[in-house]
Amino acid sequence: MSAIIEAKNLNLGYNDELVIKDATFSINAKEFVFITGASGSGKSTILSSFFGHLDVKSGHLNVFGVSMQRASKNRINHLRRSIGIVFQDYKLIKEWNIERNVMLPMVINGYKKEVCKSQVEKLLVHIKLSHKANKFPLELSGGEQQRVAMARALAHNPTIILADE
Ligand SMILES: Nc1ncnc2c1ncn2[C@@H]1O[C@H](COP(=O)(O)OP(=O)(O)OP(=O)(O)O)[C@@H](O)[C@H]1O
Ligand SMILES: [Mg+2]
Repeated sequence: MSAIIEAKNLNLGYNDELVIKDATFSINAKEFVFITGASGSGKSTILSSFFGHLDVKSGHLNVFGVSMQRASKNRINHLRRSIGIVFQDYKLIKEWNIERNVMLPMVINGYKKEVCKSQVEKLLVHIKLSHKANKFPLELSGGEQQRVAMARALAHNPTIILADE
C-alpha cells in the first residue's frame, strides 16, 4: 500500500528554531491517526506542513506522492483540493456568513451552484446550525464556530481530513 503521507528525516521549524526534528513516519489510506504531545511540542506545525502552509527545512515530506519541498505553488493549491482541514483557530472568514464559509472549498473545486447549495444545507443540518446559516462567525459561540470549521472541512468530500484539536 502506498502511503498518503510519508515523512522521512523531516525537519520543520520557524526561522532558526527547529520544532520537529528528524521525524520519519507514514500514514496510509483508511488510517485514523492521533498526534499527541504537550502544548508547544509541534502538533499544529506538523499539520501545517501537510497542508503546505510551512516550508520543509530539510528531509522529505510527500503528500499524495507530491514532494512538498519541491512542489510549485500551483501544485500545492491543487493538492489542497483533496484535503479537508480544521485549523486550531478555525480560520473562518469573518466577513462571510456561515453558509458562504462552508461553501468555500466547493467553490474552489468548481462545484455547480445547485450542488453547493444542497450540500451546504445538508451539512448545516448535520452540525445543527441550519438556523444560523445567515449569521457571521463572530455571532457564534466557540463550539459553533468549530462545527462550522468541521463542516467546511467535509464540504468537498476530501480524501483526507486534518483536524487540529
Ligand atoms: N508562526 C510561528 N513563528 C514562530 N514560532 C512558532 C510559530 N508557530 C509556532 N511556533 C512555535 O513552534 C512551537 C510548536 O508550536 P505548535 O503550534 O506546532 O505547537 P502545538 O503542539 O500545536 O501546541 P498546542 O497544543 O498549544 O496547540 C512552539 O514553540 C511555538 O512557539
Ligand atoms: Mg496546536
